[in-house]
Amino acid sequence: MKSIILGIETSCDETSAALWMDDFLTAERTSTQILHSQYGGVVPELASRAHEQLLAAAVRGVCEDAGISLHDLTAVAVTAGPGLAGALLVGLSFAKGLALAARIPLIGVNHLEGHLWSAAAAGLTVECPFLALIISGGHTLMVKVAGFNDYQVLGATKDDAAGELLDKTGRLLGYPFPAGAYLDRDKINYDGLRKGASPLHFPRARIAGEPLSFSFSGLKTAVLYYLRRNYSLQEGKYQLTEPERQAISAGIMEAVGDILISGLEAAFEDSDLRGLAVSGGVAASRYLSSRFQEFAFRQGIIFQAPPVNLCTDNAAMIAYVGRRRLQRGESSPLDLSLNPSAGLEPFSNQCYK
Ligand code: KG4
Ligand code: ZN
Repeated sequence: MKSIILGIETSCDETSAALWMDDFLTAERTSTQILHSQYGGVVPELASRAHEQLLAAAVRGVCEDAGISLHDLTAVAVTAGPGLAGALLVGLSFAKGLALAARIPLIGVNHLEGHLWSAAAAGLTVECPFLALIISGGHTLMVKVAGFNDYQVLGATKDDAAGELLDKTGRLLGYPFPAGAYLDRDKINYDGLRKGASPLHFPRARIAGEPLSFSFSGLKTAVLYYLRRNYSLQEGKYQLTEPERQAISAGIMEAVGDILISGLEAAFEDSDLRGLAVSGGVAASRYLSSRFQEFAFRQGIIFQAPPVNLCTDNAAMIAYVGRRRLQRGESSPLDLSLNPSAGLEPFSNQCYK
């Protein structure tokens, strides 16, 4: 056995640990903190406390699954940003303690860089240059990946992230947080029941002169106004029948699909892109996935989407990036500090090499 990399991810509300042993993802355990659903969004303080309770068990669990002990580890890779400061701190402090005690390298990993390589971490073949589309509750961006460490952000959202839009409009429809999967299910059911009928049409906002940028806040407002105009509010809930709710969800999903596809069309005018790899919780949508597949077919490019557990936040992608960094002889100092608002650029204090 040449290398065993432990990955740790605690940037938001998923507590995750994973092990890469040589070229294989050998174990992965992720706990999604469902406690946030009653608050309608992630509560940072509660997320940190939950990570503190769950992380040691996740790490012990992956070691048991792989039949190794902590003494066998070659390095520990951990998300150092972007994300919630308190949540990141739990993972980073844990990883530093482990690196110090086991005398192994610490590798700080950018969470977004992890998402870029989610498909590769899932064992799928991604040929560079490819376009990575990250669509989650916190991010919506398109990145040209020309190679490892060779990234160019082509476009991003100017306001809400795609998942944020789904969660906020889903809340208006009476769904718990996170709502994306409910809207996606509604869209699939709507299509199954009313073949050929058009769903509600909401506006597809684009930023003038910026075909690679996204905007979702206008769509959120349009859904709110539509509900206010057409339905009464009782005890904080719009009075909707099941078919009415489905028709609205379907309208929202179609608008999100159209907005994302038009950004992809603009990005693929750069014709040397060979493939599309999606990641982030919203990429788990069956409806959007079918839209991406159709798009890739039209473009004649390869489309790669990781399984749902590797689309959402996970430590497998963090361990994967950590392993690639270690192969390049790179690691981070033990005084590495987290960066909650990091972009895709490597951390300035990360001191790789
Ligand atoms: O990547 P993720 O787990 O966490 C971060 O935000 O970083 O993404 C969560 C987002 C939420 O907005 C959730 O509503 C959305 O992913 N989501 C979905 C689906 N499953 C989760 N959106 C559409 N369809 C789904 N099946
Ligand atoms: Zn994420």
